[in-house]
Amino acid sequence: MTKQIGILTAGGDSPGLNAAIRGVGKAAEGFYGMEVIGFRDGFRGLAENRTVRLGGNSLSGILTLGGTILGTSRDKPHKMVVGGKTHDMTDAIIENYESNHLDALVCLGGGGTQKNALRLAQSGLNILTLPKTIDNDVAMTDYTFGFDTAMNIATEAIDRLHSTAHSHHRIIVVEIMGHRAGWLTLGSGIAGGADVILIPEIAYDVKSVAEAIRNRVRKGKGFSIVAVAEGAVSQAHAAAREEVMSLRENATDKAEKQKAKAELAALKALEGEHTIQLAHELEELTGLEARVSILGHLQRGGTPSARDRILATRLGSACADYISQDVHGVMVACLAGETQAIPLEQVAGQRKTVPLDHPWLMAARRVGTNLGD
Ligand code: F6P
Repeated sequence: MTKQIGILTAGGDSPGLNAAIRGVGKAAEGFYGMEVIGFRDGFRGLAENRTVRLGGNSLSGILTLGGTILGTSRDKPHKMVVGGKTHDMTDAIIENYESNHLDALVCLGGGGTQKNALRLAQSGLNILTLPKTIDNDVAMTDYTFGFDTAMNIATEAIDRLHSTAHSHHRIIVVEIMGHRAGWLTLGSGIAGGADVILIPEIAYDVKSVAEAIRNRVRKGKGFSIVAVAEGAVSQAHAAAREEVMSLRENATDKAEKQKAKAELAALKALEGEHTIQLAHELEELTGLEARVSILGHLQRGGTPSARDRILATRLGSACADYISQDVHGVMVACLAGETQAIPLEQVAGQRKTVPLDHPWLMAARRVGTNLGD
């Protein structure tokens, strides 16, 4: 019997999603003779049964397109706001899965999507996932698609910031995405030759950063590029956070708990402005002028790199192979260079951060990059 499969893209968009949709769809339809539909806007479209036929020409001409032709959202199946209230939409999702006679549903997404996918698999649906995100923080895969493109964009930005920093003898602090993992900042920082690289995995001491910059000035280098991850925090901030967390854990009454909660929220709000704060502090400590450049969503836009197109096509087409073999409950990954089906239980809730002995960190230290510690 002809197999029917569904595809959706969830979480933040990333370059390579369309290449992956095409990879799954063309292999499923063209090679295995399956029928393919897409759900619009992630899990919300699945809950609302908003479908689109993905066959024939609709899969052509999308390999090089950025974003996702299906649309995406950050909605969760079990906590979806509908009519102003939060609902568990799992039953509606199961109903739509069945009414579309699906044999499998492929969810393309990052860490959050892996968790949501596992919940749906545990509810009895045949789910497979693919790892996408510019953050590269999904466990059990060497790389996620989208990461390489974003790293190239951030590297080019750093290259361009160099000439203006150099001309004005300034510090340029460039903020790079990556959520709570440092892959994007570390990779583009090394490739772009940033003088300082600050990542969430290593809480930084602003005095150490200022000293590194002053050292450069002593050597006749009057400018510096500081690549800082959006999730990086100073040692002082990390210590304050730890203290409030322990207050929260040891709180004995409601009032204490609420106080700790409010303090945590205040600290979180500060995190959103930490790059600007860092630039001010560096100006004060070095006497140099500083400017801030926040790359933001530029890093997620546009055409995917060749490497991301290849990874997405490879994992997408392998996903169709697994569906044809009735394999589900897995993320289709590239681990240790091999295409593998990893049980979702081993992926969901496991953020992959930069190990402190990672070769990229070692290399950065060897070439004299300051890592803030
Ligand atoms: O997960 C991808 C990512 O771009 C992160 O790097 C960033 O923290 C987040 O998404 C931004 O989310 P949004 O697009 O919802 O603002």
